[in-house]
This record gives sequence, C-alpha cells and structure tokens, in this order.
Amino acid sequence: MKAELLRLLRNSTDYISGQELCEKFGVSRTAIWKLIGQLREEGYDIEAVTNKGYRLVSYPQVFNAVELMSRMNTEWIGKKVYFREETESTNTDAKNLADAGAGNGTLVVADTQTGGKGRRGRSWYSPVGSSISFSLLLRPEISPQCAPMLTLVMGVAVAEVLHNLYRDMDVRIKWPNDVLINDKKVCGILTEMNAEMDYIHDVVIGVGINVNQDEFPEEVSEIATSLRMVTGEKQERTPIVVGVMEFFEYYYGLFEKQQDLSAFVDIYDSYLINRKREVCVLDPKGSYKGIAEGINDRGELIIRMPDKSIRRVSSGEVSVRGVYGYV
Ligand code: BTN
Repeated sequence: MKAELLRLLRNSTDYISGQELCEKFGVSRTAIWKLIGQLREEGYDIEAVTNKGYRLVSYPQVFNAVELMSRMNTEWIGKKVYFREETESTNTDAKNLADAGAGNGTLVVADTQTGGKGRRGRSWYSPVGSSISFSLLLRPEISPQCAPMLTLVMGVAVAEVLHNLYRDMDVRIKWPNDVLINDKKVCGILTEMNAEMDYIHDVVIGVGINVNQDEFPEEVSEIATSLRMVTGEKQERTPIVVGVMEFFEYYYGLFEKQQDLSAFVDIYDSYLINRKREVCVLDPKGSYKGIAEGINDRGELIIRMPDKSIRRVSSGEVSVRGVYGYV
C-alpha cells in the first residue's frame, strides 16, 4: 500500500485529496496520514495543504522495495519485491522463495551480497551501496531446452536499458550473458533452473550490474568496469532495475509468443560485440576459430568456419572469446 500511495503521488502533477486516498485504499484518514508520516521520515518531501490534499515535492535517492515498486510500470513482473540490505546470494534467496511457493515474476534485490555467485563456480563481487544484484523468479511454461534463451532475453533487456539511459555509451553484449561498455564487463547474468526432463519448476535469472564501484578486485580489474567509472559520476540504481524489469517484460512477452527469439534477433545482434569478427570458441572437445555471424532464433551463436561451413554454438557448453583476449 505504501508503494501504491507513493506511485499515486509520484504520477500526479496536482494535489491528491485525503478523501480520494481513503476511498482508493479503503482505509481511514489516520492510516493515510501515518503512511505519509513514514514516507516523510524516509526523506520524501510531501506537502499537505488543507482542502487540497497531498503533493510529492521531491524524493530521496533510496534503493529499497517501496521505491522500486512505486516506480515500476510492469504488468506482472516485480509485483512482489523482496529487498535485502545484505544477503549471501539473491539467486539462493529466489530459489528458496520458489521452493516456498513464490509466484512468477517475484523479484529479489540486494544492496550487497556476501557470497554472490558467478558462472562456472566463480564468485561475483557486489560491494555495499554501489552494485546492483537482483534475481527474477520465473515459472515459464516452456520446455527445459528453451531455458538458456532466457539468459539472452535478460541480456538484451539490460543492454536496452543501458543504451536508453546512457545514449553516448558503447553498450555491447558478449554472447551469451555479459553486457559490456567500452569493451569491459559491466553486467553478468547467471540463470539457474529447477526442472524435470520435460518440465520446468522454476528458473532464477540473477543479474549483477556494476554501478558505483570505483575499483575492482585485482583478478577482474582488467576486464571489469562500472557506470561510475565510465561516466565519472555517481549513478542512481533504482531506474536501472526498474528499466530492466520493464524491458525484460516486453521482450519476454515476444519470446513467450514465439517460444524463441525470432522477434528480436536483429536487436540482439545489433549489440553483439564480436559480430562479423573472428572469435575463438573454447569448446571442451577442442577450441576452434571462426567468424561470429550473429545468433539464430534459438539464441545459438552462428560461427562461419574458414572452410565456409557453419557451426552453431549453444550457450552453457562453451565460452567464446575475441582472438586477442576477453573480447
Ligand atoms: C557471471 O558473469 O559470472 C554471472 C554473474 C551473476 C551475478 C548475479 S548478482 C545477482 C545474482 N545473485 C548471485 O549470486 N549471482 C547473480
């Protein structure tokens, strides 16, 4: 109710009367007054004028569930947001919530993680106050073979948000699941699935975005960057999470309809970092080089081999590098 009240105030250019709010939420004037008081204590400047009502004058830069929910314009994603100041891993939290019956679209967001998980058993660095760590719980009605495509749906959503918020930046996707700015990693995605042979119980898509870090641990300092390092200014985290959810919902809708990525392959490819360039495919069965042509409808990376034959690379099996290193 607090988030809804805040949303109403935020979206209204005029005063909203106490009576209107009471009717809308079916509560007393005292209950509304109490909530307004709480919001004020949290830093929201809310003007109250007799015979007119309430008006939001300014709001603080906070990162929490109420702020996220009040700014998110989605149909079904993020209707339930769990915010943790500190947690081990939002992916683990989302998994536990899934086991406890949480619904499709539940979102877990943390200010910091003490045991953030990366791909291939690596850890993910998410320091206090400067990173974004969130996990989205989905219960998709798709076959388990289609689940890896969800990572690409999230990748395109993150790329779209960063591209829209920071028009001058060179935002790229390193297939399948890294988002880069100026050739350095700004976001990683870890998708974990709980499924039977032919049935998905739930999928958790975990996203880590480097926002206000000004340094990284030595082992990743060469390949990682943050939005602050690129822009030179501190960035607000809420609009990024909200934007990712809105874009994800849009692209997920297209994916659900077709059960593949056909509706936005071109958009994905337009962000692909090594498109039309030589890459090295690190396949456990043997590495090889070829030209990355783009993805197909199933999200596989198409590689044109020197003899002009085509190979399709599935995410999960292999990793792809530029011939000179990370990109
Ligand atoms: C990678 O690039 O290796 C994937 C990194 C994924 C990190 C995110 S942060 C939120 C979520 N919780 C985790 O423990 N991991 C993911």
